[in-house]
Amino acid sequence: MKNIDSYTHVRGESVYLDDIPLQAGTLFAAAFDSPIAHGKIKSLDTTEAEKSEGVVRIFTANDIPGENQIGGIIPDEELLASTHVHFCGMPIALVIAHSEEQARAAVKKVTVEIEKLEIITDPRFAKEKGELIIPPRTFQIGDTSSAWKDCEYIFEGSTETNGQEHLYIETQGAYAVPQENGAIRIYSSTQGPTAVQRTAARVLNVAMNKIEVDTTRLGGGFGGKEDQATTWGVLCALAAYHLKKPVKYCLHRMEDMRMTGKRHPYSSDFKIGLDKNHKIIAYEATFYQNAGAAADLSPAVMERTLFHCNNSYFIPNVKATAYSCRTHLPPNTAFRGFGGPQGMFVIEAAIDKAAAALNVPASLIQQKNLLKTGDEFPYGQKAESEANECWNKTNEVFNIQQLQKEVADFNATNKLYKKGMAMMPICFGISFTKTLMNQARSLVHVYTDGSVGISTGAVEMGQGVNTKMLQVAAKIFSISPDKIKVNTTNTYRIANTSPTAASAAADLNGRATEIACAAILKRLQQAAAEELKISPDRIEIKDEWIYANGKKTEWDWKKLVLATYVKRISLSELAHYTPPGIHFDPSKEKGHPFAYHVYGTSITTVTVDCLRGVYEIDSVKVVHDFGQSMNTMVDMGQCEGGIVQGIGWMTMEEIVYDKEGKLRSNALSTYKVPDIYSVPKEITIHPLETQKENLAVFQSKAVGEPPLMYGIGAYFALRNAVKAFNPSADIAYNAPMTPEKVLMSLYTSVHDNISK
Ligand code: MTE
Ligand code: HPA
Ligand code: MOS
Repeated sequence: MKNIDSYTHVRGESVYLDDIPLQAGTLFAAAFDSPIAHGKIKSLDTTEAEKSEGVVRIFTANDIPGENQIGGIIPDEELLASTHVHFCGMPIALVIAHSEEQARAAVKKVTVEIEKLEIITDPRFAKEKGELIIPPRTFQIGDTSSAWKDCEYIFEGSTETNGQEHLYIETQGAYAVPQENGAIRIYSSTQGPTAVQRTAARVLNVAMNKIEVDTTRLGGGFGGKEDQATTWGVLCALAAYHLKKPVKYCLHRMEDMRMTGKRHPYSSDFKIGLDKNHKIIAYEATFYQNAGAAADLSPAVMERTLFHCNNSYFIPNVKATAYSCRTHLPPNTAFRGFGGPQGMFVIEAAIDKAAAALNVPASLIQQKNLLKTGDEFPYGQKAESEANECWNKTNEVFNIQQLQKEVADFNATNKLYKKGMAMMPICFGISFTKTLMNQARSLVHVYTDGSVGISTGAVEMGQGVNTKMLQVAAKIFSISPDKIKVNTTNTYRIANTSPTAASAAADLNGRATEIACAAILKRLQQAAAEELKISPDRIEIKDEWIYANGKKTEWDWKKLVLATYVKRISLSELAHYTPPGIHFDPSKEKGHPFAYHVYGTSITTVTVDCLRGVYEIDSVKVVHDFGQSMNTMVDMGQCEGGIVQGIGWMTMEEIVYDKEGKLRSNALSTYKVPDIYSVPKEITIHPLETQKENLAVFQSKAVGEPPLMYGIGAYFALRNAVKAFNPSADIAYNAPMTPEKVLMSLYTSVHDNISK
């Protein structure tokens, strides 16, 4: 089945926030944000701006009727800076004008005097100063301190992974429209409609039932709108509340890049110990997460780094500690993988370092240590592992040795071009790590003409979740997809939603939809049984026809629906789903936090131009565990998109903040993302179709985030290509591996560095 949005997408008819027809009298907002990363506000002058053409009003922290607070996990972030600023881009005032241009022109006339305070951008330095968002956490299994003596080889090192700009095509934005009796409807480009609702209620000091948040779809979120769409929704609501007029704010790309947080950069240390057979005996890691100026989702992201610190390897002795470090960057936030990729990069670096020193391919160490079913993760859950199956299938389908030989042959015959290859097994836990967030609801109506409407808490952001919801209903009812409509995500229809995140939206909302449809189906069968005078369990609906005792009857879907209505039986259901069996105890750092894990293995091959340092990704070949995929096209798209986004993070996307905390890579001219020319020449994905009861919909598996981590393979493939040209290259584990870094490492060596 095609993605149900594809038709309107290609015709340009899909509705995004900026396509919503505006009500007469709509006003436009623009934020004045801090030019200084840390300081005390001495004075704010808006008089010139107020006189600017078209300006209606300028709001500051003093205009907030409720709490000036948008922090989700920890209340540590003001909506509008009151006395201090904590990052460049922090909103200080909100200008409202009759047009967008007038609002932005007036913003330029606002002036602020800030007494600068010490600016910290480095997470290790922040930790030294005691600037931590939460106390550090440690995940532990076995006993590393006594295990080192059993190790034949021990290696230590450090790694850096940079942040990543979400670069959703649709920038952040919202449109708030006042309703009667002080209610406000907020159209928001958000992954978390309830977060926008809850925060707007808190800031305006009104009850949550007065705030309706409605989301049709996003032009991408990738985690960037899980928490950080809230600011813009609430700012518009604040202005609409005071002015009793609709207010809209869609950020320009540079505003968005400057004012919003990104993937967390991490600085990390590792120590790895192996026995003489290359079995990993012990592993220690310390993670310094650059949280930015406020908590946002950092504590949860940090937790997921710890959950994924051993990737898909079984290690009997692990000790991993993480620090969430407060710096003066915009608060960093969720980004596809949610801290998992950062943790996985470090273990891959540790394995790479060991492999280089022992003069064996990294793939040998990787394969030897893959998780097996029954192995315990450092957090206590026992693996139901597909890691070996994926690896073996990869070999069967793609022939790893043959590919290695091709690379070696190429390198033996080419002087100025070198190829590199790397394997990347992945293992990603599915469920919100905060157990209570794993709940969802679905409201299904069958109308008397036989058409069906579905509302869930899931937000469509390109990942195809609405298509999957529709497929669930089509399958349970056995009716044609064109009889079904998936409605906007709306807090008046579905309350208290978890954000569409953690790759779990299709799982959770899909199961709720399944339950709702099954309940209605049961009533329909009951009604049919009464009409046809047989037992309900002998009734079946197949392709919109009613079968009794396996025989087609005169009754079709429409007739049965109408008859059920006439009998005064409900054709609506609100179902609630929560996955059973998951739990986690943070006081022990042990439990069973994930409903299941997703596994896969990739092989990435690259070619480096050794004169220029530029490179191409030749191919990414993958065996990925989809379970029983609900929609092959959608899932393949998720895989391809994730892989390319992961490669972007690891190779070319380079966020640069200067010492003053100012974003230097603040536009698309200075921040490069993969384009059609730089994507891999080949992406081949071979599905591993496992068939297990796994708590997802119809034995499928979540697919949104895991494939991003195949991108890590591109980093190590590039290293290997550089090493093929310059065996004594001394390359720090510092991602992204930009062409500049490749070029430098092609022509430096361990020896150069020592002699310096
Ligand atoms: N795919 C597209 N096209 N656009 C997106 O914004 N977000 C990713 C992933 N795939 C995203 C995407 C992220 S971060 C998550 S958590 C999942 O989709 C969320 O959707 P799901 O739970 O339905 O998989
Ligand atoms: N993943 C993604 N988003 C989240 C999570 C998680 O585990 N927890 C809270 N938000
Ligand atoms: Mo995805 S980072 O969980 O929105």
